[in-house]
Amino acid sequence: MVKFHGLNKIQTAVFISGAGSNLKNLIKFSLKKRSPIEIKLVISDNSKAKGLVYPKKYKIDYKIYNFKKKYTAENNIIKVLKKKKIKLICLAGFMKILTKRFIQKFNGKILNIHPSLLPDYKGLNTHYRAIKNKEKFSGCTIHYVNAKLDSGKIILQKKVRIKKNDSPKTLAKKILKQEHILYPKAILIVSANL
Ligand code: GRF
Repeated sequence: MVKFHGLNKIQTAVFISGAGSNLKNLIKFSLKKRSPIEIKLVISDNSKAKGLVYPKKYKIDYKIYNFKKKYTAENNIIKVLKKKKIKLICLAGFMKILTKRFIQKFNGKILNIHPSLLPDYKGLNTHYRAIKNKEKFSGCTIHYVNAKLDSGKIILQKKVRIKKNDSPKTLAKKILKQEHILYPKAILIVSANL
C-alpha cells in the first residue's frame, strides 16, 4: 500500500457553512497514513458555523469570508488558496454557490458532497422531497463541481433505503453516516489524478 508522508500529501482546503460533521470526518481521515491529503485550510462563509470548532481543535488554519460581496470574497479566497498551494478543495455542507470564474480556476479540483442520488434531487431539502415523493431509496453523491449546481461528473454514490417511518431527520442521519464513509473513498479515487 502506498503511504503518503506530510511532504507529498495533497494540500487540501475544506469549505463549510454549518455543523461540519463531514469536515470532522475528513480531518480524521487526513491524519491516517493511507490518506493522500493534508487539510491545510478551512473556509467558511458563516462565522457562526458550528463546524469551526474542528479547525480550532486540530490547529488547522481557518478563515471566514462574507459572501455578500461574493466577488471580493472569492478573490481573497483565491489568494489564500494560492499562498497555501492548495491543490484540492472539498465542499462539505458549503451553502454558497461559487462563481463560474472561481470554479474554472480550480477546474477538476473541487469536490462536493450532496445528500441525494444525483441527478435526482439537486438543490435543497432533498430528504423532505424524496420522502414526499415516496421514493424507496435516497443516498449521497460525491461529484466534481462544475458551473451548474449539483451537476458535475459523479465520482461515487451510495444508496440508502427509505423506510416507511423515516422522517427527513432520521433519513438525514442515516445518509450522513454513509457520507462519512463515501467522502474519503472518493478522495482516494481522485487523488490519483491530481
Ligand atoms: C451534508 O448532508 C452534505 O451532504 C450537505 O450538507 C450536509 C452537511 O453536513 N451538502 P455537515 O455540516 O458536514 O455535518
